[in-house]
Amino acid sequence: MSDWVDVVEADRLKLGDRVKLDLDDVEVIVCRAGEVVYAFEDLCSHDSYPLGDGPIEDGTITCPLHGASFCLKSGEALTPPAYSPITVFPVRIENGMVQVRDHRWD
Ligand code: FES
Repeated sequence: MSDWVDVVEADRLKLGDRVKLDLDDVEVIVCRAGEVVYAFEDLCSHDSYPLGDGPIEDGTITCPLHGASFCLKSGEALTPPAYSPITVFPVRIENGMVQVRDHRWD
């Protein structure tokens, strides 16, 4: 199982903030939406466009290029033109730090 990686102090991650990090050669976006913190690969499953600047609302992110939306909890594609999920990563807050883990190789 991979280790948890520190991203940012939890109280510094404000509503709407997005932090980008490299997690095992994958560009990952960590963001706060309400009380929930999400982590997802910065790559739309439709046409490989970066998702990181897309609007986030009600636990979903919308791709800025063609408008597909994805559940930030499960990664599921919710609207066309995307039909495949995006990769999402486990997130936790431990000792005041937001941490993510690359679970793909578990
Ligand atoms: S690249 Fe994201 S919907 Fe087309």
